[in-house]
Amino acid sequence: FIAFQSLFSKEDVGKDYEQVGMKDQIIIKFSHVVAENTPKGLAAVHFAKLVDDYTNHRVKVEVFPNQSLYGDQEEIKALLENKVQMIAPSTSTLTDLSPKWLLLDLPYIFPNRDALKEALYGEVGEELLHDLERNHIKGMALWTNHFKQITSNTPIHTTTDFEGKTFRIMPSKVLKEQFEHFGASTLMLQFNETFTNLEQHKTDSQENTISNIYSKKLYRLQNYLTISNHGFLGYGVLMNQQFWDELPPDIQVQIQRAMQETTEWLWTKSDEMNRQSLLEIERSSSISMYKLSPAEKKQWMNEMTVIYPKFEPIIGAELMNKMKVIRE
Ligand code: LMR
Repeated sequence: FIAFQSLFSKEDVGKDYEQVGMKDQIIIKFSHVVAENTPKGLAAVHFAKLVDDYTNHRVKVEVFPNQSLYGDQEEIKALLENKVQMIAPSTSTLTDLSPKWLLLDLPYIFPNRDALKEALYGEVGEELLHDLERNHIKGMALWTNHFKQITSNTPIHTTTDFEGKTFRIMPSKVLKEQFEHFGASTLMLQFNETFTNLEQHKTDSQENTISNIYSKKLYRLQNYLTISNHGFLGYGVLMNQQFWDELPPDIQVQIQRAMQETTEWLWTKSDEMNRQSLLEIERSSSISMYKLSPAEKKQWMNEMTVIYPKFEPIIGAELMNKMKVIRE
């Protein structure tokens, strides 16, 4: 952090940063893997704009979308090495580093958006973010994308339809079990490999939010889409801990303010984008869509939640109990 450290003298605090030359600007490189026109892509840009406003151009957040710097398997290492200062990996990607995060991958753990909100922005979310500190990572916030749906080559109406299929999944033991329990196989692949692997028939099914299915054109390779809302996709928004610690306190306050506003903004925006993307898919493709009825959803829920006990010891009774209270 040599070049960086010289920027922060006590006298800087309270300066009119409009007067500060470019050489004094603090640069935050923010790398992510999805398209710009997605909930995470837009939130990153929204955050960058707010930081620019609130710090009076003193801090510049440079956003690198579409895995242009690092893929989802490499970005955590890049963050720890301070090659980038911010990333927002899917919560599933964080489960190796901090197994408690497996909680968010459990199928139907959030019965509705209210439960999701209470968990993410309350004690559960706080505990998860806090758990990253021992890895020298500053957990800034949890961002939402949406609930996940399933696409496949052949229809999926019941969990028995998973049998014999090969699902592309994010790296998470829960996601693996969620499909393998029902006789499917799984392949953990980086996000940007998903399209090619479906195209080459190495996988025939996958789960994702509608915004990702739309923006990465996955719907063009698949014949069937099941609206199951069975799992959650969101992001841990992370900063290199040492970089954060060395920021002047007034800058930290403004960054936190920008982060909180972006997180609130995204809660509504991500819902709207996923709805919009579904309309676009309906309008521009012939994919066959199947929405689980409330009774079918209940059935899926009963069947899929049988995998919970396997993960309770890993996630921890305390966190599981907090979640139980929210669900009741
Ligand atoms: C995926 O790998 O399917 C998602 O995590 C991509 C993302 O970051 O939204």
